[in-house]
Amino acid sequence: MVTHMKHTAEFLVFGATGQQGGAVARALKERGGRVRAFVRDADSTRSRALAAEGISLAIGDLFDPASIDRAMAGIAGVFSVQTSSPAGEITDAQEVWQGKAIADSALRQGIQHLVYSSGGAAGKGPTDMGHFDSKSEIEAYVTALPIASTITRPASFMEMLLLPGMGLPQGEFSFFMKPDQSMQMIAVRDLGRMNAEILLAPDRYAGKVIELAGAAITGKDLERAFTRAAGRPIAYRRFPEAVLAANPFLHRLTELLDTGLLAGAADISALERQFGPMISLDDWLGGPGKSLFSAALNHENAQIALR
Ligand SMILES: NC(=O)c1ccc[n+]([C@@H]2O[C@H](COP(=O)([O-])OP(=O)(O)OC[C@H]3O[C@@H](n4cnc5c(N)ncnc54)[C@H](OP(=O)(O)O)[C@@H]3O)[C@@H](O)[C@H]2O)c1
Repeated sequence: MVTHMKHTAEFLVFGATGQQGGAVARALKERGGRVRAFVRDADSTRSRALAAEGISLAIGDLFDPASIDRAMAGIAGVFSVQTSSPAGEITDAQEVWQGKAIADSALRQGIQHLVYSSGGAAGKGPTDMGHFDSKSEIEAYVTALPIASTITRPASFMEMLLLPGMGLPQGEFSFFMKPDQSMQMIAVRDLGRMNAEILLAPDRYAGKVIELAGAAITGKDLERAFTRAAGRPIAYRRFPEAVLAANPFLHRLTELLDTGLLAGAADISALERQFGPMISLDDWLGGPGKSLFSAALNHENAQIALR
């Protein structure tokens, strides 16, 4: 029998002012969960928005373990996520340090269940990409601790598609896939929904590693869906060789897609049976991604910003 956390249980969500944590916190709230968000600045616009939605705030910093311990008091389940080096704020070693600090605190504080949000490329051997290998290291650390934990590995976010610099204002779109090559992706909203379900049913999910994705998307799918959403032709191509040659980071990501590692390992049908229907690319473009798409389409001075 599946045991759901009692409705009085409170969940601590890291990164709640960001994409993943924000989606998890809101999905928990929608399901009647009590949520505490770990935030650095209670006065930021995003922290205030969380508070206005009935989410309580615990002030702290991931570099301050005492503040993590304080935030965990009385908590049943924890959602752990860290930023990574491509965002430019921390090194890979610091990401590992923060991921371990949360896990250590969860153990000290007797937390019932820790959900660590990793990444789709983790746990499959070395990748030579620091922000993927960092996640493999945190995963190994978390699973070795004597604490109930679940590892979730999200595919690339659909939101990533609309970073500036992919060519949309010029009527084209460049990304990692060859036109016929497919890559699993996920809408951040689905990621939030699934992690919330996992937090609410620890007995069902503890001890598991779950690859999360909502759709397998080819370059041609992007061309069709973007053309439809824009109401004018958007031609798809893989990043040109000159761009890849000048950017070792993008180049390595493309290689990892070609070897299959970044193509995604989620069983999307099984996820849909377990968690309900996933948001398709078209539905995402017409819903949660609509304003992002419009902004990307109309961006005048787009630069390559993906790192
Ligand atoms: N993008 C993708 O397609 C993808 C796919 C799979 C996995 N990932 C992984 O997802 C992770 C990033 O998640 P995200 O996109 O949700 O991040 P995000 O939107 O950039 O948000 C980062 C969050 O972390 C908080 N934070 C940063 N430093 C902190 C500190 N020292 N103490 C406390 N809180 C801190 C931020 O709070 P403030 O409001 O205070 O800044 C913010 O809430 C990365 O590890 C990345 O590799 C990304």
